[in-house]
Amino acid sequence: MFGKKKAIPHIDKDQLALIETAQKRIKQKKRLYIHFVIFLIGAVFLIAANTGLGIGKEIKFFDINWFVFAILLWLFFFLYHIFNVFITHKFMGKAWETEQLEKLVFKQKQRIAKIEGNLEKQNNKESISNNLLVNASKNTKQKTKGFLTIIVAASANNAIGLNNKLIWHLSNDLKRFKNLTNGHYIIMGRKTFESFPKPLPNRTHVVISRQSDYKVPAGVILVNSLSDALDASKSDPQPFIIGGGQIYKETLSLAHKIEMTRVHDNFDADTYFPEIDLTIWKETANTFHKKDDKHKHDYSFITYERI
Ligand SMILES: NC(=O)c1ccc[n+]([C@@H]2O[C@H](COP(=O)([O-])OP(=O)(O)OC[C@H]3O[C@@H](n4cnc5c(N)ncnc54)[C@H](OP(=O)(O)O)[C@@H]3O)[C@@H](O)[C@H]2O)c1
Repeated sequence: MFGKKKAIPHIDKDQLALIETAQKRIKQKKRLYIHFVIFLIGAVFLIAANTGLGIGKEIKFFDINWFVFAILLWLFFFLYHIFNVFITHKFMGKAWETEQLEKLVFKQKQRIAKIEGNLEKQNNKESISNNLLVNASKNTKQKTKGFLTIIVAASANNAIGLNNKLIWHLSNDLKRFKNLTNGHYIIMGRKTFESFPKPLPNRTHVVISRQSDYKVPAGVILVNSLSDALDASKSDPQPFIIGGGQIYKETLSLAHKIEMTRVHDNFDADTYFPEIDLTIWKETANTFHKKDDKHKHDYSFITYERI
C-alpha cells in the first residue's frame, strides 16, 4: 500500500507509431526471407522430382521440362513479394499515405482560408455600403425634425397629373389641401411649382430644382436638393410634400404620413403616385364621399401612417 510505485515508461504517440512501423517492417522482411528459403528448397525439390525421380518427365512445353515453368512462375511470385516489401510498403506504405493526406489537407485548408478571406472582404464591403445607406437615410430623417407628410390626390390607377396639370377638379379636395397645409412649409418639385398660376397664400413654398439660376418670386425658397429642402423646412413641426410625381417617389421612404384623396375612377395620365406598400403603411382614417353637383367623381379622404 505504501510501497514504491513502479515507474511507468512514457512513450508519446509518434514514438509508438515508429516502433509499430519498425515491427511491421521486420515481420515483412522476415516473411520475405522465409519465402526465399522455401522458394530455394522448392526449386531444388522440383528439379530433383523431375530429373532424379522422373516425375512428369514426359511433360514438356516447347521442348522444355515443366519444372522450369513451375520455377519461373514461383520466381515471378517471389519477385512480386520483393516488390511489395521494398517498393509498395516502403515508399507507398502508411507513412507515405499519411504524408500525402497531410499535404492534401494543408492545400484544402489554404483554399478554405482564401475563400473565407474573400467572403470577409465582401461582407465588409456590404456592411460598409449598408452603413452608408443607413447613415444617409438617418441624416435625411434627422433633417426633418417635424412630421413629414405627403399630401396627394390620386386616382384608382394612381394617376396624379397630365401635361403638368391636375386631371380633375374636386373643390372639397382643394379645401382639404388648403386646411391641412395652411401655415406650413410646402415642398414641391419645380414642375409642380410651375403648374400654379401664383404662389399659394399663407404657406412657405420650398421649390426643388437642379437649376441654380432658376428664378422664383420673393418669399419662395429655391433649393437644389431634397436634403436642402428638408433642411430649409426644419422649423416647421409638420412640413408637407405636395408633389409632383418625381418628388413623391423620392420622399415616400422618408415620410411619416400620407394624406390621400383617392379619386375612384381610372384616368389617362403622364404622372403617377407610387404604389403604397401596405406592409409599411397602415390606413388610420377613411371617409368616403359620393359624387355630386360639384364633384364629378366619388372620392375618399384616406390617411396612412407608417407602421
Ligand atoms: N394630384 C396631385 O396631388 C398632384 C400634386 C402635385 C403635382 N401633381 C402633378 O404632377 C405633375 C408634376 O410632377 P413631375 O413628376 O412631372 O414633376 P415634379 O416632381 O413636380 O418636379 C420635377 C422637377 O423637380 C426637380 N427635382 C426633382 N428631384 C430633384 C432632386 N433630387 N434634386 C434637385 N431637383 C430635383 C427637377 O427640376 P429641374 O428640372 O428644374 O432640375 C425636376 O425636373 C403635374 O402634372 C402636376 O399637376 C399632382
